[in-house]
Amino acid sequence: MTDATATGIGTATATAHPNVALSKYWGKRSGGGKIPAVPSLSVTLAGLETRTQVTFDASLVEDRFVLDGREADPLARARVVELLDRVRAGAGEERRAEVRSENDFPTASGLASSASGFAALALAATRAAGLDWDAPRVSDLARRSSASAARSLFGGFVELAAGEPGARDEELFAARPVAAADHLPLVILVCVTTEGRKAVGSSEGMARTLAVSPYARAWLDEAPRIHARLRDALLARDFGEVGELAEASALAMHASAIAAGVMYWNGATLEALGALRALRAGGTLAFATIDAGPHVKVLARPGDLARVRSAMKSVPGVLRVLEARPGEGAALVASRASGAPSLAAARGSVA
Ligand code: PMV
Repeated sequence: MTDATATGIGTATATAHPNVALSKYWGKRSGGGKIPAVPSLSVTLAGLETRTQVTFDASLVEDRFVLDGREADPLARARVVELLDRVRAGAGEERRAEVRSENDFPTASGLASSASGFAALALAATRAAGLDWDAPRVSDLARRSSASAARSLFGGFVELAAGEPGARDEELFAARPVAAADHLPLVILVCVTTEGRKAVGSSEGMARTLAVSPYARAWLDEAPRIHARLRDALLARDFGEVGELAEASALAMHASAIAAGVMYWNGATLEALGALRALRAGGTLAFATIDAGPHVKVLARPGDLARVRSAMKSVPGVLRVLEARPGEGAALVASRASGAPSLAAARGSVA
């Protein structure tokens, strides 16, 4: 193994998984930055993974970002550089970095790769720079890039509170775990309804909702109530109540967005919602949640998996159904910080 100090290299690799919000974050506080206006609660997904390697290298003249084997576009690169700049400021680090990130799930799968992407990047970048930040601090770093990424640092069921009005982005604001992955037996079926990318990004969609929706106030008032009830139902392991409230949160979020002209659904989204109502009428508990896109994510009990899966596969317009379960948080796969006393590879979860 080479000496990291001698080569001027500090490197670390981390993994993280996407998460799906059961109670939705939709809307930021007005003070600037990415502080949520409403609380959210998500489940981190096993089986789908982002793996990111960050290497600070004295011989680099600028930061590089390679995503799934290809040089990333300037916008994506700019967001990565922004996070690296925060890490450099915290570590007194001056070297540029090469970031290599791979998703083992398709970008247009309806699972936001930004959550797992920024969670893995935040963990790998801090460790590559030799920063021993604890889980809340790394979660806060990820949150500044994408608020939902703050939740992917942790496994199982994870909460991100609402910021106080006037909260500032510079203050530490992290997600926190609420219950372990095995707390509630659950399967999440991602029903993919298009291969295309979303038209309106989540930041733009939520900003427009709060600015012009006649139902923005209703959403901001109702979301914390749904969240509190969902949290209680989760802690009581009440699947039916969790599912009903998760669907209510998604429908309220989308209703407020639609009234602002922010429409993420397509025909298959409605067909899928109808199929779930039919399943429930027949006695099978299965519920929908929908993010900033047309795909429907179904929450079901493991014992109903075969029935729910086959019902969703036959919905007109549903192209594919991916299966996920509650899983673990971000983890360090290997690290070698320059100047570190030991060059041994480290492995472990951040939480
Ligand atoms: O953090 P962002 O900008 O990816 O926004 C996430 C918004 C939703 O996915 C729709 C809801 C959520 O809480 O994840």
